[in-house]
Amino acid sequence: MAFKPLLLLLLISSLPLISSRSELHDYPPLADGLAWEFYDGTCHELESIVRAHLRSVFDSDVGLAAGLLRVFFHDCFVQGCDGSVLLTGSDGEQASPPNQTLRPKALEVINDLRSLVAHACGSVVSCADITALAAREAVFLTGGPYFKMPLGRRDSLSFAPAADTIASIPSPAPTSQPS
Ligand code: HEM
Repeated sequence: MAFKPLLLLLLISSLPLISSRSELHDYPPLADGLAWEFYDGTCHELESIVRAHLRSVFDSDVGLAAGLLRVFFHDCFVQGCDGSVLLTGSDGEQASPPNQTLRPKALEVINDLRSLVAHACGSVVSCADITALAAREAVFLTGGPYFKMPLGRRDSLSFAPAADTIASIPSPAPTSQPS
């Protein structure tokens, strides 16, 4: 029957279209200070270290992928993507209400990644970039698209006060009444 080979051909030729492992191809211009190959000369194994560790982390708790993505969002919305959400201290970002529901284990994972990367490369990679790469891997390793992550973020030496944190992260409370 000619039907079966035709069906097989159709199926094989449509595989790239239905693959969820697609890569995004259009990227916006890079912000000042960021580069695609920022650590190529100083820590070329960075991305493979992050991916290998997160693969094993997600094997035992895939929910941490959600936790890591959210940490990146909460970092970037306060003072920019500067790792400030990782800094601890009273009346600081991490202790403020929007960040109290970040998964503590996700913050621990970023700390573990920081140690692994520092062990391999020394202290050259910023915590802000590790947080960004962890968010990218959280999307990719759980079946989302692959996208390149530009690197070169600098870590802040200080966190924002709790009040600024509350003002910067959108509240889940409704801001207007439905009409
Ligand atoms: C108006 C903007 C947003 C609001 C008000 C909001 C609010 C929230 C709230 C209330 C939770 C549940 C927290 C809990 O009680 O456990 C949550 C979880 C989450 N949010 Fe958002 N969010 C916003 C935007 C975003 C964006 C832009 C991202 C990603 C880029 C994001 C990623 C997540 C993820 C991954 C979780 C689940 C975290 C986990 O399970 O550990 N959110 N968000």
